[in-house]
Amino acid sequence: MNKFKFLSDKLEDLEKKHQFITPKVIQSPTSSEIKIKGKKYINFASNNYLGLAGNKRIIAEGIKAMKKFGVSAAAVRTIAGTTVLHQKLERKLAQFKKVDDVILLQSGFTANLSVLPTIANENDIIFSDELNHASIIDACRLSKATTLRYKHCNPNDLEDQLVKAIQKNKEGTVFIVSDGVFSMDGDLAPLPDLCKISEKYNAILIIDDAHGEGVLGRGGRGIVDHFSLHSKVDVEVGTLSKAFGVVGGFVGGKKEIISYLRQRARPYLFSSSLSIPDTACAIESIKLVSRGGLQKKLWENTEFFKNSLKSLNFDIGNSQTPIVPLIIGDEAMAKNFADLLFQEGIFAVAITYPTVALGKARIRFIVTSAHSKSQLKYAVATISLIGKKIGVI
Ligand SMILES: Cc1ncc(COP(=O)(O)O)c(C=O)c1O
Repeated sequence: MNKFKFLSDKLEDLEKKHQFITPKVIQSPTSSEIKIKGKKYINFASNNYLGLAGNKRIIAEGIKAMKKFGVSAAAVRTIAGTTVLHQKLERKLAQFKKVDDVILLQSGFTANLSVLPTIANENDIIFSDELNHASIIDACRLSKATTLRYKHCNPNDLEDQLVKAIQKNKEGTVFIVSDGVFSMDGDLAPLPDLCKISEKYNAILIIDDAHGEGVLGRGGRGIVDHFSLHSKVDVEVGTLSKAFGVVGGFVGGKKEIISYLRQRARPYLFSSSLSIPDTACAIESIKLVSRGGLQKKLWENTEFFKNSLKSLNFDIGNSQTPIVPLIIGDEAMAKNFADLLFQEGIFAVAITYPTVALGKARIRFIVTSAHSKSQLKYAVATISLIGKKIGVI
């Protein structure tokens, strides 16, 4: 008897539903142009907002650090995995985010898994935006708290549910958790309202700023800076794997919270520390991001691309950022659209159910500062031609 039949059945099922994932294999550095199977494509699929993933100064810092410290500390942070570089990066991130303290993790995913499962317990209630990232959903599940989902970006629904819940449970701590920028739609969390509600009900507010850092705020300081709400958000989760162009995650916030995470967060205690080159590259990347020049080009490119698509009558939802969803609706049509774009040298991913709601299939474009005007113009012209051909516009 095949003891893996239950898995082969599942794989078959995924194939049947056209949900089986086969990633494209990249043969070049990540930039606005990438090579796949020997052919060049304009890349709209990476989160490389500021074009830093292949930056020469960042690479040089990584090499210099490896020569001095090796590749890895080969230990978890609390045993023998804390080098002077890790501590320096934490200090730099705390200054960058204007928070009391920062704890460094291996990814944005493990950063989210470090927060709620560590500080929320069975007496507590978590209010989570219904479109939050998978890592927040898993963090809620791993915590023993009751999780209640509120309607996407809807502070009224949040407050209504919160009032009812605290009438029933007067004991526990209340947490509100939201993405800052929503990764499939590019819209922003209503941060001023979330801050007011958390203050009014003494709730702990956690914001995942993965797609805000480098993109929003002065010198790319993120969504909290964008709304000038420093010290009103209790915990900020971040990633080094998007605008910073490296890899890694972090949590910033009030002293007590970060100190407690250093004692009890399981991804910090039981998974080895960030590699040496990642750590050194991130330190250099923060320097380049905070200068601010790259954001200007990013936003010019974003406005050009979005305005061009809007003027062609494409539906790009409620995006307020360089994440541009081209909403198609039908799943098969979205996949076909992305395939036709790929044939014409444009790499952008079709996002379908279950990542987004059924009937809300889309192609997600991520605009970066590295795109040239001619790349963007070619993309708009090609999207327009294909859109007309298959009846999207
Ligand atoms: C909102 C959000 N949080 C967290 C993550 C995870 O970040 P990382 O890729 O660094 O693990 C992502 C990445 O997709 C994200 O979009």
